[in-house]
Amino acid sequence: MRTLTIKSPGRVNLIGEHTDYALGYVMPAAINLYIVLEGRPSTAVRLQSSMLGEVAGFDLCNLVRSGDWSDYVKGIYYVLVKRGVRVGGVEGVISGNLPAGAGLGSSASLELAVLYFLNQAYSLKLSRIEMALIAKEAENEFVGVPCGILDQFSALMGRRGHAMFLDTELLRCEYVLIPSDIAIIVFFTGVKREIGRTAYIERRRVVEEGLRMLGAWSSKYLSSGDLAKLPAAHRRYLSYIVRENERVVKVRDLLKSGDAAAVGEVLVEAHEDLAVNYGVSCPELDFTVREAVRLGAYGARLTGAGFGGSVVILASKSRAESVAEGVLSRYVRKFPWSPKYFIVEASDGISNAR
Ligand code: GLA
Repeated sequence: MRTLTIKSPGRVNLIGEHTDYALGYVMPAAINLYIVLEGRPSTAVRLQSSMLGEVAGFDLCNLVRSGDWSDYVKGIYYVLVKRGVRVGGVEGVISGNLPAGAGLGSSASLELAVLYFLNQAYSLKLSRIEMALIAKEAENEFVGVPCGILDQFSALMGRRGHAMFLDTELLRCEYVLIPSDIAIIVFFTGVKREIGRTAYIERRRVVEEGLRMLGAWSSKYLSSGDLAKLPAAHRRYLSYIVRENERVVKVRDLLKSGDAAAVGEVLVEAHEDLAVNYGVSCPELDFTVREAVRLGAYGARLTGAGFGGSVVILASKSRAESVAEGVLSRYVRKFPWSPKYFIVEASDGISNAR
């Protein structure tokens, strides 16, 4: 069989953070930063990462976690085997320009590049939604990160020029056109914090416990009366999620009416809420948001799980470059990290490269 080349995008979440595991609303877009897999079928797995200069190799009958990036690949096999799907190996090279650990969904992007390849190479006939669920399960059960569906759905279902208003309970998605004047800047702070993982798990635990106490399945159905019944920590986190769900609906409507300035204001409010009440920000993220707004962006907020990673900044196309450059030069004077920014486009989901 000939070599297949798969282009798997990262994502930026415009609004709706830490709501997916409470089955609320999110509004991401796939972006034109990719993991590229060039592979051909084989009896075992042997993938070389040109970014890391490392090789992941294993036999299909030996799926043992090794604590490195090969776990994302093994996780996909783990779920397929568990489901009784017969599938062979892959040999090839992984490259691309999507940074890892930047809060841009790179693990899901890698998992899906492999799964999308296997789906074609071995005619598995999986739908995009099935692939999203398999990749999420790989992450939850094999890698050990209890993430929601945000990253996987975005990488598969993205549409050029659009954000996705996604109900993560029903997996129902409405595509919302991003007004052509809005530029999306992703500012990677250069901060990768391990604490993020533990804190994420802890937030999720409290949120799920709170939902259980109320007998609720999804955060979408909670009222202020419900929240009042909860103990303080549960109330604090779930109140944030209820407000964030409302903001996702608001941003969808504001985007439709083309009111970029108002969208920006909601983003800033969301960041404040994430920082103060949900407790997942850090000085680098707060600084980036503040400076972006001061330099004339419509708005900005942390994107992804937080504790480092990236900020999404919305600015008019004519100002994007100067806002991004301005934030960058101020940031490097204040912090010792190596930040990087990307002016990205909302893009189509995973596909074969032409
Ligand atoms: C990570 C997870 C997502 C989501 C975000 C926070 O990116 O992978 O499922 O929970 O954090 O919104």
